[in-house]
Order: sequence, then structure tokens, then C-alpha cells
Amino acid sequence: MSIRFRLLFSFTSVVIVSVTLFMLAAYLLSVAATGDYRSVRSFYTIHYSLNPLSEEEESIFLDLKYLAKHDPAKLTDLTLLQNYDTQLKMVKAGLLVRKEARPVYTTPNLLEDNLAEALPDYEMGNYSIRNTMNVGSRFFSYAKFDFYFDAAKKEKGSIFVLRERSPFAELVRKMLPVLVGMFAFIVLLTGLILYRYVTRKIVIPLEGLRKSAERIKEGDLTNDLPPASKDEIGQLVMSFDEMRHRLQESIQLQLLYEENRKQMLSNISHDLRTPITTIKGYAEGIRDGVAQTPEKLKQYASAIHTRAGDMERMVEELFYYSKLDLKKEPFAFEEADAVSLLREIMLEHEIDFEREEVQLEWRNLPSRPIPILADREKLKRVVRNLLANSIKFMSRDPKIITVDIRLDEAEEAVTITIADNGPGINQEALPYVFDRFYRADDSRSPAAGGSGLGLAVAKQIIDGHGGEIAADSELFKGTEIYFTLPLLTKRR
Ligand SMILES: Nc1ncnc2c1ncn2[C@@H]1O[C@H](COP(=O)(O)OP(=O)(O)O)[C@@H](O)[C@H]1O
Ligand SMILES: [Mg+2]
Repeated sequence: MSIRFRLLFSFTSVVIVSVTLFMLAAYLLSVAATGDYRSVRSFYTIHYSLNPLSEEEESIFLDLKYLAKHDPAKLTDLTLLQNYDTQLKMVKAGLLVRKEARPVYTTPNLLEDNLAEALPDYEMGNYSIRNTMNVGSRFFSYAKFDFYFDAAKKEKGSIFVLRERSPFAELVRKMLPVLVGMFAFIVLLTGLILYRYVTRKIVIPLEGLRKSAERIKEGDLTNDLPPASKDEIGQLVMSFDEMRHRLQESIQLQLLYEENRKQMLSNISHDLRTPITTIKGYAEGIRDGVAQTPEKLKQYASAIHTRAGDMERMVEELFYYSKLDLKKEPFAFEEADAVSLLREIMLEHEIDFEREEVQLEWRNLPSRPIPILADREKLKRVVRNLLANSIKFMSRDPKIITVDIRLDEAEEAVTITIADNGPGINQEALPYVFDRFYRADDSRSPAAGGSGLGLAVAKQIIDGHGGEIAADSELFKGTEIYFTLPLLTKRR
């Protein structure tokens, strides 16, 4: 059974039950009020006894009454009576004039065998002028006036203005099809409205849900569901759509990872091939006797040594990165003072700065220690990678590297910035510098140096410390790499 049908069915039964109960209650109420189970029927008769005639009929009746009072002889004048009758017929009523027991005039369509017996008796006081009566199967409401044709002879006469009413039973019989029809119409109409409502609010969204589920089954996750209403169905649709959206996102992420992995493999093979080709070239030179002199031989051998060294570094860095990436490189955290740690690292690089003629500048150097939890060796590696980049890319004089330590009490973190006045990184490249293998110039020649892993490793290590790392740069002006480390207090 579909939801549509079920709802239509239940609604129809509700309508039927309520209409039945309503009618029953109305009947019971009238019985209770009058104490008679036929009361419904008597209401009907009473209504017509009180208002038997319409206004036009009433005025003709009054005319006739006037005649009966003042000139009763005229009421035997058939032409006059016919004239009145015609007027009455126009308003669908009839006329009867009685003299003693015998009708003098009867509207032709009222002629019935037992009419005379059915007519009420004389009642000269005219107490009951308006009433109803049954003639055979016919039901009439009437107004009556009794008078004397000849007061001396006591010759009794009556005028009746009659109007046929459908009897109660017949009325019910007549009305029943109309009632049933109306009832059916109401049920149908409400059913139709309900059908439309249910369809719009429930069935269509559910249908959409089903279609969407079907498409998901087939692997199509792009099917956006239209925003739904706030009811339960709408919430279901929204939850479903959210689920679809999440699924789509996770699949896209998966695809991105996959793409990344492919890219990484291709980068590794490319970066390893170049030094291998060079080494092979020099080795062939030696084998084929190209390097004849001992100096040349030495030169070739040292070239091979350098390239092999590059490869070793690259492999080592890659290995280190993948260990960090797989969380297989444990962190050895210990309490440390950020300021003295940084001083220590800079001291270790003093020889490099001297050799490369780099000026080191300190900014905002705090006077008191800044306690952090650090894996000293790994943090050293981070700073080493940053300094190596600055030194590698700086070309113009004077080469200045600035170290800035800033304490942010509110954030409970320390921000360390290492800046240079080198060539800078262009804005498009900036968001990617922390990606593995990424090099802004993308000249994948070993001359440009490096594997593109330095900043990726730095990011892994800072992440491991619960900090953040970011870059800021302006072309031809310099680059700033800054990272935050949470203060020790926060970790406790
Ligand atoms: N201080 C800097 N000045 C200019 N460019 C930089 C600097 N640091 C990093 N970059 C850019 O970011 C890229 C990624 O750096 P890194 O991950 O250390 O890789 P690598 O040093 O092996 O190229 C570099 O190739 C370079 O283009
Ligand atoms: Mg580097």
C-alpha cells in the first residue's frame, strides 16, 4: 500500500466517521431536547404549520378572507374563483372553497378521492388557521378560514389556500442522493487536496531521496537535492543531502591523495634520475678512458662523489619526511627555553653565516626564558631548513637574516619568525611552499638545489609540536617564515 493511498484511505475514513457521528449527535440532541424520537419529523411539520404560505399566497388568502367576511356570496362565483386560482397557480399553490361538506371549487391538480375526508372540520372561532395535513401520500401546508355563507341559515363555508410540500419521507428520499453526492464530493475534494499536499510535502521529496540514493549507488554523488521544508521529511532530506555531500568530499579527498601519491612518485623518480644520469656519464668517462690524466680522473671521481652526496641527502630527507608522515618518527619532548634554544641553534650556524657573509639580526629578544615543550633535535632541523633556504636563495648584498621571537600571552604561544631579504616567493606559489616536493621556480634541476622537502619537513615537525607554520613574502624584498609553539603552561 503506497503512502498516498494509505493517507487518502485514512482521511476518507475520518471524514465518514466524523460525518456519521455528527448526524447521530444532531439526532440525539433533538431527541434529548424534545423527548420524542419522531421529533426531527415534527420539527418539519411545525415549521410548515407556522409558515404555510409565501407572501404572495398570503395576500391572496387575505383577499379571499376579506370577501368571506363582507361578501361571501361572491365565493360561489366560479369565474372569480378561477381568477384567484390562476394567480395562486402562478406561485404554485392551490385553492379550495368548501360549502357545507362539499367543495364548491377545487384547483384541478388537487383533486383527490379522499380530499374531502382529509380536510379539517369547521371551526368557526378560526383558532387554527395555519396547519399541515396529509392527503393520501401527499403532504400539504395550508391557511384556512371558516365563515358563514348565510349567517341566518348557518350555511358554513371554508376557504383553503393550499401548498403542496414534499412529505418528510420523500424529502429525505429526494435529499439523500444530493446529500450522498455532496458528501462524496467533499470527500473527493478533500482527498484531492490532501493528495496534492501529501504529494508535494512527502511523496515528491521521498521520490527525490530515492532517486538520489539510486544515483549514489551508481557512483554519482553530484546530485544536489533541492532545499526542503523544516518538517521531519525535510530534515530527513537535508540529513541525506549532507551525508551525500560528506561522502562526495571524502571521495574527492581520496582522489586528491591518490593524485598526490602519483605526483610524489613521479617527482621522486625524476629527482633521482638526474644525478644517476650524471654519475653514469662520469663513470662511463672513466671506463672509456676519457679521463686520462690523474687530475681529470680525480675531477670525475669527485663529481661522482658530489652527486652521490646529493642523492644521499635527498634520500635521507625523503626517508625522514615519510617517517614523519607515517608518524613513525617519535618525538622526544623535553622542557626547553625557546630563547636559549634559538640562540644555541644560531650559534651552531655561525660558521655558515660567516662563510656566506650573512648578517644575523635579533628582534624583540625577550629577556626572560620562554618555557616550551620541544624535541630539540627536530626544532633544530626546522630552523636549519629555514636558514638553508634563506642562504640558498639570497643573492644580493647585504644578506640579512632576522630572527624575531614574540610572546603572545593571550594565545599562550610563542611566535618565531625567520626572515630574509632575498628574492621572495611570488603570491601564486606561496600557498604551496609547504607541500612536499614543491619548488616555486619549478626548475627541477639539481642546480636550484634541494628536494622541495625542506619546508614540508618543517611543517610536519611544527604540527607535531601542536604549532602552526606559515609564510609571508614579497617578491624582490624578502621572505618571512613564522611558526608558533604552544607555551608549556598551556600543555599542562
Ligand atoms: N627564503 C626563501 N626565499 C625564496 N624562496 C623560498 C624561500 N624559502 C622557500 N622558498 C621557496 O619554497 C620552495 C620550497 O622550499 P623547500 O621546501 O625548502 O624546498 P627546497 O629548498 O628543496 O627547494 C623553494 O623551492 C623556494 O621556491
Ligand atoms: Mg629547502
